[in-house]
Amino acid sequence: MREVIVALDFPNKEESIGLLKNLDRVKISRLRNRGLAELGEEFKPYVKIGMELFYSEGARLVREIKDMGYRIFLDLKLHDIPNTVQSAMKVLAGLGVDMCNLHCAGGIKMMRDAKEGLIDGGGEDTLLIGVTQLTSTSEKVLHEEILINRTMEEAVLNYSLNGKLAGLDGVVCSPWEAERIHELCGYQFLTVCPGIRFASQSSNDQVRVATPSKAGEAGCDYIVVGRSITQAEMPYEAYERALLELNGIKL
Ligand code: C5P
Repeated sequence: MREVIVALDFPNKEESIGLLKNLDRVKISRLRNRGLAELGEEFKPYVKIGMELFYSEGARLVREIKDMGYRIFLDLKLHDIPNTVQSAMKVLAGLGVDMCNLHCAGGIKMMRDAKEGLIDGGGEDTLLIGVTQLTSTSEKVLHEEILINRTMEEAVLNYSLNGKLAGLDGVVCSPWEAERIHELCGYQFLTVCPGIRFASQSSNDQVRVATPSKAGEAGCDYIVVGRSITQAEMPYEAYERALLELNGIKL
């Protein structure tokens, strides 16, 4: 099953717990009846804790949310010299998160050492994902600001191959790149895709966007959804819709 990761892009614990309470209304039986037969009774959504929430609430909230039964993607996008990232990963492994990430731009040695740090810290089961090119970056910015004179696709595929070589479990990429990445790096190599909007929604600051169903067709293993769920009138309904659409179930 392809999964939806809900981005808890909030400044504090109260707002995050408020959203999680709403997500508790996700009905497993309803999702099963609509075709997601493999969902277990204990199923809880995957959530993403990013910089804003982590910097304000710290490791304690990560542990609390984990104890509530949610799976966690800790999205801190590490990028530093290999030794520093390795030591940081060793510490993050102790939080027991399910997925964490770093920037592929840090290079192959940094990524390899990061994986080593994660394993040293007891995080052998924690997925390590590399950020390729942020989905808010356009090709114009790539060429004119970052001075990478390649197409967006070439840049993203190169980052992905480096990540694969370094032993990462997958990459963060736009849904538009997922198919090529799978062809190049194999179907076991995970694609985690933000930049998701329901049909007819505004793209806000994201440049390369897709709907959950398009992301599913493109083979994205996970989609990361923030505002389309967190700012919906009924977030749990938006979550259910995204999960069904992503798995090719027509509403
Ligand atoms: O609100 P929206 O759905 O655009 O949120 C997307 C989430 O995915 C945010 O938490 C953002 O930090 C994250 N993200 C992203 N692009 C990346 C990596 C992560 O948008 N390349």
